[in-house]
Amino acid sequence: MCGIIGYIGEKQAYPIIVNGLKKLEYRGYDSYGICVLNNNNVFLKRKVGRISEENSESEDKGFIGIGHSRWATTGSVCEKNAHPQEYNGFYVVHNGIIENYKDLKEELTGKGHQFNSDTDTEVIAHLISDEFNGNLEDAVRKALKRIVGSYGIAVVSPKDEGKIVIAKLSSPIIIGICADGHIIASDSSAVIDYTKQIITLDDNEMAVLRKDSYIISKEKKIETIDWENDSVSKGDYEHFMLKEIMEESKVIDSAIQGRLLEDDVKLGGLETSKERLKKANKIHLVGCGTGYYAAKTGEYLMEEIAGIDAEAQMGSEIRYRNVRLDSNQAAIFVSQSGETADNLASLKKMKEFGVLTLGVTNVIGSTQTKETEGGVYTRCGREVAVASTKAFIGQLTVLTMISIFLGRQRNLNSEKAKEIILELKNLSKKADSILGDCSKIEEIAKKYSQYKDFWFIGRKFNYPIALEGALKLKEISYVHAEGTPGGELKHGPLALIDENCPTIAICPQDSVYDKMLSNMEEVKARNGKIIAIANIGDEKVKEIADDVIYIPKTLECLFPILTTIPLHLFAYYLALSLNRDIDKPRNLAKSVTVE
Ligand code: G6P
Repeated sequence: MCGIIGYIGEKQAYPIIVNGLKKLEYRGYDSYGICVLNNNNVFLKRKVGRISEENSESEDKGFIGIGHSRWATTGSVCEKNAHPQEYNGFYVVHNGIIENYKDLKEELTGKGHQFNSDTDTEVIAHLISDEFNGNLEDAVRKALKRIVGSYGIAVVSPKDEGKIVIAKLSSPIIIGICADGHIIASDSSAVIDYTKQIITLDDNEMAVLRKDSYIISKEKKIETIDWENDSVSKGDYEHFMLKEIMEESKVIDSAIQGRLLEDDVKLGGLETSKERLKKANKIHLVGCGTGYYAAKTGEYLMEEIAGIDAEAQMGSEIRYRNVRLDSNQAAIFVSQSGETADNLASLKKMKEFGVLTLGVTNVIGSTQTKETEGGVYTRCGREVAVASTKAFIGQLTVLTMISIFLGRQRNLNSEKAKEIILELKNLSKKADSILGDCSKIEEIAKKYSQYKDFWFIGRKFNYPIALEGALKLKEISYVHAEGTPGGELKHGPLALIDENCPTIAICPQDSVYDKMLSNMEEVKARNGKIIAIANIGDEKVKEIADDVIYIPKTLECLFPILTTIPLHLFAYYLALSLNRDIDKPRNLAKSVTVE
């Protein structure tokens, strides 16, 4: 899984490739590589580390180049496994997975080929070399016929210079048409600095790009990108993650702006699906990672507010299950990037069954927004830190509004809708009050930074928030953390609770408050330490817990938006105490584009 880029034209390729790779770093950052051709000379650089540390102002190298930012799938992180992979003068960058690479490697080795890396990608270069008969695109076409798996590839060779050959199956590639040549990339963020005219390659398509022409197997529409790369900086913050958490209150306002009516919501992206949504008898909410926990919260919200049968699904699981799917159902895909491969694969499946597909997406113009029939943008602005924070708040806010929308089509009465809408308008101020006083959370996180295991509990709406709190802590601090519903503790996890395993209990004054108090007592009785998230002035929680983080009161269905904020801050400050690489944690990527 990775980001790929290529340029052919009148300008020097190297700086364009470096700049593009920096934009694609969210797809992987363990190593990178660049190859530039110049009249039969090849400049090749492969490095372990981050492209963000690379300087693009280097001497002239040539006008044709390809580049790659890697997130290791097959083969460990080392220079020889970085892309471009090369064999016999054929250079390949690849995003995807070659499933039959072992068989191919064995066969090629039998024919005398020597392999230099442990990657699946290297077999592509070998196959192209085997098939080469003077024409690069013919060789690529024949090589791809032997491959099983997914790929977005770009290939160059001094043996047939003057062109870049690209091909796609289940991994995205777009072509940017520039005044001075052509640029290709895994997504439009890497080309938008050079052109707004793009062509999206479809599965099983191949293209040959030259300086002043391109050939694709069939005629394609040129689209115009109508958004800019919003440049973001950390400002005065030490990390993007803290900056993004601090934006969580602003995100609520941005998500609701212009969308709240007196007793209903106005969501333009659902207009054309209105009638089908009215008839829908089930909503699937699909996501991965943090997106899945937002989906899980959405499940509770939709059941409660809209009175509709809703079920959260993991993108990586639903596509393999025999869940009953039909055209009376709708699926809402929840994703920050809109590029998560597991979601996109499930989206394809849902469409095959005639399910209405909608997106709750942050990145404008992403694949998810193009493939779904409608949806709602979360409008969080660019999220840079790998661990998703403000996007989660945006997703919860949008899912609440969709629940009101669905509810008003069903049995949600005007008074109840008004009450939620009014409170949604007040929510950012309450979020601000938590963010404005985070020194206490920092102090608590420091106090607990030497523990190796944490348990997160919550019930009903706050159960998915317990999962999100645990995920955030794992992702950026590398500390073991798990989340369970408070009521499930007694069915197993209690065996692990002792003075060395603190419990974070989400315990606002809602309909399951008393039950949560009992769960906290169960932990205390086993000498477990408790950090509680509770409402301001709550004396009962104070008596049981070792430490309390206070939040303002709100409606039960809106508590998740507020209870999440201290958990994001807790994870951040704990990771900070441990001196972790907070914005780019080891082994992860912002957007996972392999299944
Ligand atoms: C990766 C990221 C997570 C994110 C998940 C889903 O695993 O590391 O932070 O929650 O992908 O991403 P999406 O873009 O679909 O929300």
